[in-house]
Amino acid sequence: MAERTQVGIVGAGPAGLLLSHLLARAGIDSIVIEDRSRDYVENRIRAGVLEQGAADMLDEAGLGARMHAEGQFHDGIEIRFQRRGHRIDFPSLTGGKRITVYGQQEVVKDIIAARFAVGGTIHFEVSDVAVRDFDGDKPRIVFRKDGQPSEIECDFIAGCDGFHGICRLSFPDGVLTAFDRDYPFAWLGILSESPQASHELIYTHTDDGFALLSTRSPTLQRYYLQVAPDEDIGEWPDDRIWAQLQARTALADGSFRIPEGPILQKGITPMRSFVVEPMQHGRLFLAGDCAHIVPPTGAKGMNLAVADIRNLTAALVAFYRSGDQRLLDGYSARCLRRVWKAQRFSWWMTTMLHLNPADSPFDKHRQTAELDYVTGSEAAMTALAENYVGLPFNEPEL
Ligand code: APR
Ligand code: PHB
Repeated sequence: MAERTQVGIVGAGPAGLLLSHLLARAGIDSIVIEDRSRDYVENRIRAGVLEQGAADMLDEAGLGARMHAEGQFHDGIEIRFQRRGHRIDFPSLTGGKRITVYGQQEVVKDIIAARFAVGGTIHFEVSDVAVRDFDGDKPRIVFRKDGQPSEIECDFIAGCDGFHGICRLSFPDGVLTAFDRDYPFAWLGILSESPQASHELIYTHTDDGFALLSTRSPTLQRYYLQVAPDEDIGEWPDDRIWAQLQARTALADGSFRIPEGPILQKGITPMRSFVVEPMQHGRLFLAGDCAHIVPPTGAKGMNLAVADIRNLTAALVAFYRSGDQRLLDGYSARCLRRVWKAQRFSWWMTTMLHLNPADSPFDKHRQTAELDYVTGSEAAMTALAENYVGLPFNEPEL
């Protein structure tokens, strides 16, 4: 079976879905293919923080109704170290900006519903996906649907298939340069049915390692613990997880305790920084996790996908309106400038907050001094806050 569309999109994560939705609003046709089921992508637990600009974009695109009803708007975060808490207030430091805590899978559900409501096409559960002929002006995506060979002919291919996808791997040899960093730790994440421990996120640094208290709703909490990269989840029964969460978030005066509850889900996520350059070749454009991964400490993953899609949509709209290819040609450079700033911020938050087994006594003192400085200087707090709520989408000219 062969179909024809303007933009063929590989991957129904936040990047691919948002692109399809924004293109449709601009009158540009697309088809999304996804190798997992709809149920799987709608229930996969991932990131949860939206920058001010990303939440505004969802609003402007008509996707904000449930986010406003069920998401939480946070005006700050707490950094806790040496058993004391320090709040960083976002609106007062950033000219009124804040963050929205709303699960990535909820964003995914909202966009899928919006696409189907207007007759959009998403093929779930496809297999054997390959991208072809993107060096010329008639690229194709080939795959199997219900076991049958299928094909999408298009003008452009958007590779939105995440870190493990095939689009990045399909670039010809020698085109891409990869930059990466692994960290000597991972996160054990849990979803717990329990009351909220705090009305804002708490990032803690302790001699036992890092912990993060986040949330999904007043009754559903998302908590993380720093663990070893090769940690066996089997070694972490629920009572050990709770004991470590309590130990790593305790305050000096004993006044803080996390309300415990049943753990519904647990898993270990590796920590990695990764970027490929460039993010385009011929008529194949990469966006989101397939082009870059950040360690989750800066809460940037989903936001970077949204920012790439904002650029790609603007470039495709300019091309279809007037044939102007300049924004398409500059797509990678425009994205990467902001991506690298988010990489820097994510690396900095990660190294500032985690216990690194290789650190010398000098490093430990430097790390404590950094936490002390960041929570004590208005200039330093402003630097953290403006990155956390999101740098502007439009970079100033160099
Ligand atoms: N063919 C079709 N779909 C594929 C293929 C393939 N060969 N390989 C992967 N996919 C799908 C995945 O199943 C997934 O649904 O592509 C989608 C990619 O989505 P994400 O991994 O969510 O990536 P992205 O849309 O870039 O969003 C980035 O995801 O991992 C988080 O923290 C990250 O929040 C960030 C966000
Ligand atoms: C989350 O809620 O999943 C979350 C929040 C903040 C982070 C990372 C993850 O830095």
